[in-house]
Amino acid sequence: MQKLQQQTIQTTEIATAKTHTITDKKQIAPQITQIDVIAPDIATKAKAGQFAILKVHENSERIPLTLVTWNNKNGTITLIFQEVGFSTKELGKLNIGDAILNIAGPLGKPSEIKGYGKVAVVCGGVGTAAAYPIAKALKETGNTVISVVGARNQELLVLEPEMQAVSNEFYITTDDGSKGHKGFVSDVLKTLIDKNYGFDAVYAIGPPIMMKVIADVTRPYKIKTIVSLNPIMVDGMGMCGACRVTVGGQTKFACVDGPEFDAHQVDFKELIQRLKSYVTEEKSALQTHRHEGGKCRCQNQ
Ligand code: NAD
Ligand code: FES
Repeated sequence: MQKLQQQTIQTTEIATAKTHTITDKKQIAPQITQIDVIAPDIATKAKAGQFAILKVHENSERIPLTLVTWNNKNGTITLIFQEVGFSTKELGKLNIGDAILNIAGPLGKPSEIKGYGKVAVVCGGVGTAAAYPIAKALKETGNTVISVVGARNQELLVLEPEMQAVSNEFYITTDDGSKGHKGFVSDVLKTLIDKNYGFDAVYAIGPPIMMKVIADVTRPYKIKTIVSLNPIMVDGMGMCGACRVTVGGQTKFACVDGPEFDAHQVDFKELIQRLKSYVTEEKSALQTHRHEGGKCRCQNQ
């Protein structure tokens, strides 16, 4: 995989660098980037399952991103993002040595990490970045972790060695069959369940449709299933209501009540519908962005 930058900020330089400075950056898959950022306050408090909200500059949108790893020693956090919209493309333009305006976190409730027994961690696409810290924490707590990692094709698989390292058993799926089992992660999970793996819990993180399908697979077997939801977020503080989801017939705010919920109680139809709400605005913002040569309008003023 081609690296965007070879040079990283050395440990000695990190100690004197400005907060929120990017100390490392690599492209880990097409349009998927991993960055290390100086954020000591977040690094010391972060727990698996939590996220941060970034603002690249004064006029940019807020971007919620799961905390992938954190390093107490040098005060950095690792984030992975897919350059899909205007804001993530802006973030992708920052390089090593550049600083993000502000990062709030850690936000959200940490994952409930305990001795479940045998746990399946099923993740799809860039959702693997959010699943990795959970799989790691589950393994460190003594659970038997069976991971199923899927992507559309081999190139889009992320954190494959890292996930394998924290798994007792490890399966790969690709939609096109370029690596591992040809098909969806849900197919492999169903096969394992039918082989009487006897899962005590299932964690599923990825596109909403994948999490819905996993919930449908485990429901008849009454296997506790937890999903990490990624609705639209604005303040991340439980005040704006942008991230509302319906769980068990009740309105919940994913940023403060979640992001993890009982998969069998989530109204996925509503979640998927709400995520489509801003597709037109997002397309238009991207179009403007392209017309302006990738330069934010606010920087022209
Ligand atoms: P994708 O569309 O490439 O799908 C990844 C995998 O999910 C597929 O390879 C397949 O195995 C599975 N999948 C997809 N559709 C399925 C279906 N209909 N039935 C069963 N399995 C299916 O994923 P992507 O483009 O990388 O997107 C990842 C998604 O994860 C994004 O929607 C992103 O917002 C979300 N995400 C969630 C979190 C979180 O915390 N919940 C964090 C990061 C990303
Ligand atoms: Fe505003 Fe959750 S993002 S209430």
